Amino acid sequence: MNGSNELRLARRTTRLGTETAFEVLVKARALEAQGRDIVHLEIGEPDFDTPRNIIDSACDALHKGFTHYGPSAGLPQLRETIAEYVSETRGVRVTPDEVVVVPGGKPIIFFVILALAEEGDEVIYPNPGFPIYESMINYVGAKPVPIRLREEMEFRLDVDELAGLINDRTKLIIINSPQNPTGGMLTKKDIDGIARAIGGRNIMVLSDEIYSRLIFEGEHHSIMSIDGMKDRCILLDGFSKTYAMTGWRMGYGVMRADLAMHVARLMTNSSSCTASFTQMAGVEALRGPQESVEAMCAEFKKRRDVMVAGLNKIKGFSCLLPKGAFYVFPNISGTGWPSKKLADALLDEAGVAGLSGTAFGDFGEGYMRFSVANSIENIEKALERIRTWTEKNL
Ligand SMILES: Cc1ncc(COP(=O)(O)O)c(C=O)c1O
Repeated sequence: MNGSNELRLARRTTRLGTETAFEVLVKARALEAQGRDIVHLEIGEPDFDTPRNIIDSACDALHKGFTHYGPSAGLPQLRETIAEYVSETRGVRVTPDEVVVVPGGKPIIFFVILALAEEGDEVIYPNPGFPIYESMINYVGAKPVPIRLREEMEFRLDVDELAGLINDRTKLIIINSPQNPTGGMLTKKDIDGIARAIGGRNIMVLSDEIYSRLIFEGEHHSIMSIDGMKDRCILLDGFSKTYAMTGWRMGYGVMRADLAMHVARLMTNSSSCTASFTQMAGVEALRGPQESVEAMCAEFKKRRDVMVAGLNKIKGFSCLLPKGAFYVFPNISGTGWPSKKLADALLDEAGVAGLSGTAFGDFGEGYMRFSVANSIENIEKALERIRTWTEKNL
């Protein structure tokens, strides 16, 4: 090649992974454009509208002039509100200088891994798990060390196994509860065990708690609440899932102030700041009425029950009842089909968009993920289509 036009990417760019949900969505939409009817169970976002009080407060903020740049770490009003909310919900004293507001929960994953991990470091992360963890660990040149989440443990991690993966090179451990894609939840005993496994080592924990308000059974336990863990912990939470605000792009991290300063600097170098009127709506979301969160959660629970009961009646599928988040993660090994091939066939031939378990890492083989962020009517339609398909093909 004589190549003056050759694209010469930085090596790290070629190591970035992706989030398959967005790709399957594009494919499903293309099929719809050809006239096909597709039931969308691929994407992880509430199908509800953002509550009215939050929309009104954003409009009000726009009229009041919150249309300018703000501080990179977030508006003081919102940082203060988040500090109070996290202090209350996690039972630790958090101050506003420990809060960084960013456009979505995802940038906290991006910035924290970028700020902490580099070549020679090891980062432990859940597998199957949110694909951005592994992608970012690879991007920064650190070594991804998966901890397998097992169905026989209701998709919780095994603390002894975690202890065996920790060594002198371990820089960061990522945990996620309630979990995407499995809906598994860590117990208080698990959280205590993780803290014990870390012991006196200087290892940070990124605790992704974005689904902490979407819980159907049991209670949420945060590692931040454990004595001595606050300074080792980066808590990720946000507005996308709890308040049906995925398109607003707003989330936050809570971390020791000396790390928050560097994460804020990454904001200065990338987005400058999160949209100011959006942040004012965030204040209303946390301080205003919470009934809509409860109503949404109750509806997700009903849908989960319909989906799990329906899947368990289909040949080749068996599905645990997830305890939180809005996904179900059936074991499909009884179909005899590899996950990706089955997900493709269900989309192409049955008109049901779901994700292959392998979209969440190698240990997702043998599983699929369906989001229940769709109506009961559509969930029943999807179940009927999957059942008909399996009768024809298995
Ligand atoms: C586990 C987990 N963390 C973080 C995020 C990112 O959320 P956001 O849309 O607020 O960036 C998601 C979104 O799907 C998620 O599932």
